[in-house]
Amino acid sequence: MEARFGGRVALVTGGASGIGAAAVRQFHREGACVVIADVDAAGGTALAGELGARARFHATDVSDYDAVEALVLEAVSAFGRLDVLFNNAGIGSFSPIPDLAVEDWQRVIATDLNGVFYGMKAAIPVMREQGGGAIVNTASISGLSGDYGFAAYNAAKAGVINLTRTAAIDHAREGIRVNAVCPGPVDTPIIAGISEVPGLRATWDDAVPMGRFARPEEIAEVAAFLASDAASYVTGAIIPVDGGVTAHTGQPNLLRAMGRGDAS
Ligand SMILES: NC(=O)c1ccc[n+]([C@@H]2O[C@H](COP(=O)([O-])OP(=O)(O)OC[C@H]3O[C@@H](n4cnc5c(N)ncnc54)[C@H](O)[C@@H]3O)[C@@H](O)[C@H]2O)c1
Repeated sequence: MEARFGGRVALVTGGASGIGAAAVRQFHREGACVVIADVDAAGGTALAGELGARARFHATDVSDYDAVEALVLEAVSAFGRLDVLFNNAGIGSFSPIPDLAVEDWQRVIATDLNGVFYGMKAAIPVMREQGGGAIVNTASISGLSGDYGFAAYNAAKAGVINLTRTAAIDHAREGIRVNAVCPGPVDTPIIAGISEVPGLRATWDDAVPMGRFARPEEIAEVAAFLASDAASYVTGAIIPVDGGVTAHTGQPNLLRAMGRGDAS
């Protein structure tokens, strides 16, 4: 495959695990120098070590603006430029609103929403100076509609979606494209806890028209497309990568209920 990211520098937050790690591997495989940013120092260091010379890990908490600014400076001083920012770090939360601790609300907003703003605030001046760049933000289908018990996460991811749109139009004439991916359920540690509830995984699989969770690589592939020159006229796009979840109104499967068709 052509080295789409040869000579380019990509920064991936939440790059030590899951979707971020898959994206780190893909950008690197396609020629990029990659900076892995994460609070997981062990995972990030191991991945950078495995990839070798064109990769490095920078311990960063994306909810801390000074840390994110230092991260961007480090990427530029290590590799000379910054072409791609994948704002992907995130955490979940699950609680009805009255039981949701204020600290948990703040933690989710600080990581999932503030972290994306901080990444763009620090990176856009560098990209503008260079004459362009591509930013991909990881939102979620949970930013497009509500989920039972996901109040903080729904709010943060909806914020990421509209922030993506604003950033896209504000910087379109500066050669900076800004897009978001909205994954459906993906097999990563963030939702590993569901295996503790008997039957939940099968129920969740069944709620996806494709009948399964995504692999992290299936999200990374779309992020890489959005970050590449193949998406040169794509900005402000909010792209579900969800096996068909958001194509569905949420109504029951009448074909199955009535024993008709093969929509199992
Ligand atoms: N897995 C899913 O089903 C799913 C669905 C939709 C959206 N997403 C989103 O995808 C993104 C990646 O999640 P994932 O599924 O790969 O989970 P993951 O837990 O495998 O990866 C998340 C990474 O972010 C890091 N991280 C957490 N807080 C951080 C912070 N404050 N600063 C820096 N790094 C931090 C974690 O250490 C971890 O390495 C998240 O934004 C998540 O909300 C995931």
